[in-house]
Amino acid sequence: MAQLWGGRFTKETDELVYRFNASISFDKKFYRQDMEGSIAHVKMLGKQGILTEAETQEIVTALREILKEVEDGTLEISHEYEDIHSFVEATLIDRLGDTGKKLHTGRSRNDQVALDMRLYTRQEVLEIDGLLKEFLQVMLGVMEEHVDTFMPGFTHLQKAQPVTLAHHFGAYFEMFKRDRQRMEDIYRRMNYCPLGSGALAGTTYDLDRYSTAAQMGFDGPTLNSMDGVSDRDYLIELLSALSTIMMHLSRFSEEVIIWNSNEYQFVEIDDAYSTGSSIMPQKKNPDIAELVRGKTGRVYGALMSLLTTMKGIPLAYNKDMQEDKELTFDAMDTVKGCLALFSGMVATMKFHKGRMEASAKNGFTNATDAADYLVNHGVPFRDAHGIIGKLVLHCIEKGVSIDELSLEDLQKISPVFDKDIFDAVSLETCVEKRLTIGAPGQKAMKQVIALHKEYLAQDWKSGISDWEAGLLS
Ligand code: ARG
Repeated sequence: MAQLWGGRFTKETDELVYRFNASISFDKKFYRQDMEGSIAHVKMLGKQGILTEAETQEIVTALREILKEVEDGTLEISHEYEDIHSFVEATLIDRLGDTGKKLHTGRSRNDQVALDMRLYTRQEVLEIDGLLKEFLQVMLGVMEEHVDTFMPGFTHLQKAQPVTLAHHFGAYFEMFKRDRQRMEDIYRRMNYCPLGSGALAGTTYDLDRYSTAAQMGFDGPTLNSMDGVSDRDYLIELLSALSTIMMHLSRFSEEVIIWNSNEYQFVEIDDAYSTGSSIMPQKKNPDIAELVRGKTGRVYGALMSLLTTMKGIPLAYNKDMQEDKELTFDAMDTVKGCLALFSGMVATMKFHKGRMEASAKNGFTNATDAADYLVNHGVPFRDAHGIIGKLVLHCIEKGVSIDELSLEDLQKISPVFDKDIFDAVSLETCVEKRLTIGAPGQKAMKQVIALHKEYLAQDWKSGISDWEAGLLS
């Protein structure tokens, strides 16, 4: 057991209590952010004359060395310490003696951990944004290639009206674009530095919180020290946005599984992204899509967990908050893994155009267009709906599609039909005539694709590009 406190205790901590309380097994994940935060803090203490220039230099150099050694594996983060903060401080004191003991001047682990988690999460938000962008690029590639790959559009999983593969993918493009916007939004709201909040009430030292915030690429310091140490809203917002990403991925997974089934065969998942069966030699299973769908539950779980953890906590810091870490780390890792795999799976997937088109042709996906034809020839819509309903019934009985009937047959049902009906209900016309923006018609689709290209060509500015270089060299 190695801990930073103990002066006011007369007994050793119970072994079980120590283990229950310790967080090093998971908070070592942000060892880098912990040391970066310490370097920024010490530099600011030096600038303010709270530490001498020599002390500042000595501590900063030692922290950089410790970080380097941890990264290259020469220094192992020992689990005998309570948390990563204790490990770093103890290692520093080991090396520098009394000077090392000055590191924690004007700081509490409460604002320290609030900072570390924010720094770590901020980086993850940017990474997730990058993965989302890559996925959007993959989807846009499919869209460009398939503006006239016809397929049935469904409602209630029943064939409804014909669309194109580009249009279907376009729906997912919108979802994941909104997911990216949520990342940007969360980033902007969370990008304030809690360091300097102290335990809860700031400190009596003359700290320059604007300086530490600027050193680490924050837009400024948080403006209330009690909130600074106890705000976990940004994690809840992030978990909510991650849950939404998983919900989107899960819906997409479900479609890929259906499309890849023996019955549909709209797509074939690449061998590299499929798995086999230990007993049935013929099987090629869509396990990746199923796992992504399955993992959605654990990300939702993380959101519920943290909301519940936070709901009864009085101001300011309470140890309950330590529970924010494992579940957030797990959710971020899960989403990153799923996004990367899903991009790869979609990028390598084969689309069977013929199967999709054949499926769009049978199933009366042109029934609405047949009704519209009658409307364009003066029949009121409600009557047209009834006439085409009868026509569909007739076709079902005969086992044919609308365009397979002769003109005489059609005219027996309504004399309004003329020979141009066949063109009016062809798959091509049904899709091509849908030209309002957002519809599957080729012209409308191409306009949207051009907008997507413009969108992907620009990046939102995170504004934190060089902050690490400033601290580490
Ligand atoms: N491991 C703690 C956490 O994650 C660090 C803060 C500890 N602060 C304290 N007052 N015990 O929240």
